[in-house]
Amino acid sequence: MDNNLNIPSVFPNRTNNRFFQALQGRKYDRPPFWFMRQAGRYLPEYRKLREQQSNFLSFCYTPSLTVEAALQPLRRFDPDAAILFSDILVIPDGLGQSVGFKEEVGPVLEPLRSENDLMQLHPERVIEHLDPVFESVRMLAAALPTETVLIGFAGAPWTVAYYMVEGRSGRDGSTVKRWAMEDPAGFQKLIDILVEVTTEYLIKQIENGVEIIQLFDSWSGLLNGVQFEQWIIKPTQKIVAGIKSKFPNVPIIGFPRGAGDLTIPYVEQTAVDAVSLDSGITPAWARNHLQQICAVQGNLDNEILRTGGLPLEQETENILKTLSDGRFIFNLGHGIFPDTPPEHVIQVAEIVRNYVHS
Ligand code: CP3
Repeated sequence: MDNNLNIPSVFPNRTNNRFFQALQGRKYDRPPFWFMRQAGRYLPEYRKLREQQSNFLSFCYTPSLTVEAALQPLRRFDPDAAILFSDILVIPDGLGQSVGFKEEVGPVLEPLRSENDLMQLHPERVIEHLDPVFESVRMLAAALPTETVLIGFAGAPWTVAYYMVEGRSGRDGSTVKRWAMEDPAGFQKLIDILVEVTTEYLIKQIENGVEIIQLFDSWSGLLNGVQFEQWIIKPTQKIVAGIKSKFPNVPIIGFPRGAGDLTIPYVEQTAVDAVSLDSGITPAWARNHLQQICAVQGNLDNEILRTGGLPLEQETENILKTLSDGRFIFNLGHGIFPDTPPEHVIQVAEIVRNYVHS
């Protein structure tokens, strides 16, 4: 199916795989797709599985459960990628911060507020603590069909710091921003710890079988200008360089949600291979400004996915038409909402599966 066989491969790991080909802008039969949060509560079979472990972090540390959760969406709609089932907050948990998940509220952390609080963290314990995650990776890699790629992930330092300092989601980030601006040297120490453990954690995921990395920076829309460069670009650049020094052929997808036009310097300076776009960016802008510098992933509005109907069909087709001539992976602009009918997800999967490159 590969119609560009004479172009040297940047990612030689998987020369006959739709996902790896698309990352390099080679047209395979159709664009690859997967969905952020493709595993989770919108699936009744996940809700049933979840009953086996009331504590969400304990669920994340039980490989038999995480492997089943990651495989469930594959049975429903056979995407081109599986994503490790875990959470970005296993890093603060591994560092020794108190992390819980409350129904209807989400994550609840005992917040860190100053440099002094960093003494409570134990970076040296993270990798050992997260051993069940690496076992999940090994088991999932073994269970996947060969054509399905395995994506590993972590939160980017700014977003993980947001939760560690704010203590929960839904806040406007003023506490974490205030620390970063009033005491940049102290806050830098937290970011440095996160850069170090996250790089190590992702390298371990790769050593255990992950083939592609996604870095979630869900709260990068809170910053711009110099702050964006200091707390989003620089830490991400260090993580990318750290991973690439060991595994130059493992593609890295960055997701600077809400970054807007700062997505351009983000891509140029972090050297990510692909950028995942939220739904605030138009596909035409992404084609004109981003596809020349990297692969793009996205960006169907998760609200439209939840609502369904004709707009869902039209928007899916518009994204495919606009972006599938370049380096492109179909996805959402943000994770699937828990009250999304699985039929809508199946409908989108069918449209992408039947799309033929022009
Ligand atoms: O298929 C998948 O993507 C599942 C793996 C996954 C989860 N969380 C499972 C999860 C991934 C990739 C994440 C990433 C994650 N976690 C992010 C970045 C992506 C984003 O959405 O911006 C963030 C910010 C978190 C932190 C987090 N975890 C929140 C805010 C919440 C509560 C709100 C919510 O969306 O549920 C979680 C809990 C969580 N993580 C659940 C799942 C399936 C629900 C917990 C449950 O089953 O009770």
